[in-house]
Amino acid sequence: MTPPDTDVRVGRVRPRRLRSSAAMRALVAETRLHPSDLILPMFVREGVDLPVPITSMPGVVQHSLDSLVVATREAADAGVGGVMLFGVPATRDAVGSAADHPDGILNVGLARVREAVGDDTLVMADLCLDEFTDHGHCGVLTTDARGATVVDNDATLERYAAMACAQADAGAHVLGPSGMMDGQIGVVRDALDAHGRTDVAVLAYAAKYSSGFYGPFREAVESTLEGDRSTYQQDPANLSESLREARLDIEEGADIVMVKPALPYLDVLRAVTEVAHEAGVPTSAYQVSGEYAQIEAAAAQGWIDRDRVVMEALTSIKRAGAGSILTYYALEVARRLQG
Ligand code: PBG
Repeated sequence: MTPPDTDVRVGRVRPRRLRSSAAMRALVAETRLHPSDLILPMFVREGVDLPVPITSMPGVVQHSLDSLVVATREAADAGVGGVMLFGVPATRDAVGSAADHPDGILNVGLARVREAVGDDTLVMADLCLDEFTDHGHCGVLTTDARGATVVDNDATLERYAAMACAQADAGAHVLGPSGMMDGQIGVVRDALDAHGRTDVAVLAYAAKYSSGFYGPFREAVESTLEGDRSTYQQDPANLSESLREARLDIEEGADIVMVKPALPYLDVLRAVTEVAHEAGVPTSAYQVSGEYAQIEAAAAQGWIDRDRVVMEALTSIKRAGAGSILTYYALEVARRLQG
């Protein structure tokens, strides 16, 4: 017997029937976005009373503490799944002291936001040192045997452990370690547990590539980095390395594993999702600043239909396997989905 789809007689099997109307397309859609899938990354800047626009990310700002609280409330009301906070401190030093100080801008922002929204949406914290160090690296530096300056993996882990406890104390529900140090998930998990905070979840940046798509973010956090992060972030040439990273993070206790950037790495996202789902772990993906900027820049020229492309990109990220998506479009899209 011939399987139906290989029947060559034109007219009997017509896939177009399922595309014939909006109602029919909605009935058979395999992927649906929901506001609770979306996580809104936001920047909070120390020492400003009003939000400061970010030139390379039109529509995105460095928030003041007050505007951060307002924006988080709006996100919660729109049903957004969570907010992911990044700090822009006024002063930086070699070890990123503000990162684990309760008066550091990120911890103050977390506390203000958590107080305002309670459990209405998830309050998440980027757990990394790059915004807080004067050299802009994601960890502390040391000199290696040959006299070169390198990021000291294990000394950095101690800083991450302290940062994790500070962020939990400030009120974060979820921590997102993003520095790509070896062993960071296990160290953060152990530090939280020893601190009596088994309730705080870890969203692991399992596969984080050394990417040019982070360009606008560097403006957003006023990064001082010279050089790059290619000794700790992954080479864009590699796929199986991401599966190794994801497996390690899951073994170390990650609650969710993330792939970043998103759209240029959908193959990685699909493969990581398969590995993670075998272990019963959900995945997330980060549509990063450069992905946002590309859409905005082309739309500003009138070269693409902005709203359509935004929905298409997010739908594609979800189709590739992401259970949740970090996106600067989270609030806008959640509102659109709410109707
Ligand atoms: C590191 C971090 C970065 C981003 C999120 N966390 C920058 C980097 O690794 O250089 C990039 C996010 C974006 O581009 O939107 N703390």
